[in-house]
Amino acid sequence: METKAINLTAIYFSATDTTRRCVAGVATGLGQELSKEINLADDLEAVLPAFSENDVVIVAFPVYGGRLPMQVSDVLQRISGNNARAIAMVVYGNRDYDDALLELTDILRDASFRIVGQGAFIGQHSIFPAVGALRPDDKDLLQLREFGEECRKAIDAEAKSYKLDAPKGNRPYKKAAGVPVHPKADEADCKRCGICADKCPVGAIPADRPFTTDNEICISCGRCIYVCSNKARRYSGITYNTIGTLFKATFSKRKSPSWTVATPIL
Ligand SMILES: Cc1cc2nc3c(=O)[nH]c(=O)nc-3n(C[C@H](O)[C@H](O)[C@H](O)COP(=O)(O)O)c2cc1C
Ligand code: SF4
Ligand code: SF4
Repeated sequence: METKAINLTAIYFSATDTTRRCVAGVATGLGQELSKEINLADDLEAVLPAFSENDVVIVAFPVYGGRLPMQVSDVLQRISGNNARAIAMVVYGNRDYDDALLELTDILRDASFRIVGQGAFIGQHSIFPAVGALRPDDKDLLQLREFGEECRKAIDAEAKSYKLDAPKGNRPYKKAAGVPVHPKADEADCKRCGICADKCPVGAIPADRPFTTDNEICISCGRCIYVCSNKARRYSGITYNTIGTLFKATFSKRKSPSWTVATPIL
């Protein structure tokens, strides 16, 4: 029997590419090309499509301080599901995802999405890359694919509604907080190509002095490090090294993805 095509969109925020790679893994399991992909790290002002009940939308975010990144939860206030089906995903750096998946599923339900699957997956920690190093790896990608395959079965059931228990987490959610470390470059290493200033999602890098960072604006997403082909930008300093050592000692033990797929109510 031929599989029916689904109209698949992905909306995510991915500064250092781990969330995007997790989304691609799930899309493989769904057996469907993405018709549209919006990385909010490219444009926090991006116009979000108007969805209808035939759409399937993967909505995926990294976990920042046990929550969704503040800027993207603001963007999500203007998303409207109109009964489209959603796959809710968070990607975290092997510490914990705390209330982030609960926060995401609450937002999606309030925006009239029918959630067919929800999951928390692991990506290399974008501030402390020794934690969750090189993830998602092959094992993760297999599990992401499996999650996608299970979601596809729920989607193909063409149900009017879906039953899915809330993921772990507490309301009110954890207090959102930034981190006290921010990357910058040594002036001598910087070739002044301007790419980091162009790609910073919040405009924290001045175009005329791209080796510096406005720490008041920076959300520590790590994108400037990821895009600098000269490897000029990095975290440094006593605070960073001290937290990094503690983090590595405490959170290096491998965590496994967890997900739940909804029961179609026919
Ligand atoms: C500001 C900030 C806060 C973070 N907080 C957490 C956290 O609470 N728990 C965790 O396990 N990982 C945390 N991480 C790690 C990211 O969730 C993880 O590296 C994610 O894969 C990054 O996604 P991206 O590569 O798509 O940008 C944090 C990263 C940043 C930049
Ligand atoms: S991307 Fe790297 S080399 Fe280019 S301006 Fe930024 S810090 Fe300098
Ligand atoms: S300056 Fe801060 S906010 Fe901008 S890309 Fe770098 S880490 Fe992200």
